Amino acid sequence: MNSTDETLNFLAVGDIVGNEACRYFISVLPEFQKKEKIFFTIVNGENSFKGYGISLKQAEQLLDSGVDVLTGGNHMYDSRDIIPLFNSEQRMIRPANYVDEIPGQGYVIAEKRGIPVLVINAIGRIFMEPTNNPFNTVSDILQKCRKEVLIRIIDFHAEATAEKQAFAWYLDGRASLIFGTHTHVQTADERILPAGPGFITDLGMTGVINSVIGMDVHNAVKKFLTTFPKRVKIAEGEIRAQGIIAAISPQTGACRSIRRVFF
Ligand SMILES: [Fe+2]
Ligand SMILES: [Fe+2]
Repeated sequence: MNSTDETLNFLAVGDIVGNEACRYFISVLPEFQKKEKIFFTIVNGENSFKGYGISLKQAEQLLDSGVDVLTGGNHMYDSRDIIPLFNSEQRMIRPANYVDEIPGQGYVIAEKRGIPVLVINAIGRIFMEPTNNPFNTVSDILQKCRKEVLIRIIDFHAEATAEKQAFAWYLDGRASLIFGTHTHVQTADERILPAGPGFITDLGMTGVINSVIGMDVHNAVKKFLTTFPKRVKIAEGEIRAQGIIAAISPQTGACRSIRRVFF
């Protein structure tokens, strides 16, 4: 293999749902990273704390356990003790297209073994709360960091598949890897777009498999039958992590392969 063929493995994992799933992820990650020769790991942690947000302790534990960048979404601030960590921890990011008054940064350039990696978090606007336009916000960040960093990764936290796919096409040729999060259901459309980035509409989740997007089945069914507003309960049972591994060239920033993983 010559130097132009060299790639690095990037692991991206979908939303952690619940405290047990967070513990599970921390316990299985090191061995999985070793087995798959993972260079860099990104996980979306927005539902780690009982399904709502992420606690300070969980964020610190994830970042101590081999997670390089922690991303979020609409549940980012549900557990309020996380807010001060945004002042001291660059490796935890929140959607970049939130207004400036909201705590935290929307992107980070994380340097690993001398290789800079740009990770951006953005949030969608279809069936979600109104925010700044994610297409424009991410485009501006990419333009700003263009010369500094070749490996550019985006977690687009969004509900609508069409919005996520249009977003990926809009950024074709300007990013290395674009993945969706938020629906907690993994899509089977991973591919490499014509001008270089790996893409999947949604990574899936880290949570209980026999559930309704990580939540208790009985509770969820009851909610749909009665429409009575009820705070959902985390499901119990076998947990798995879902995501992708993308092989990215550090020389060009292009994605050479992308495959789904379940562990
Ligand atoms: Fe989520
Ligand atoms: Fe979400």
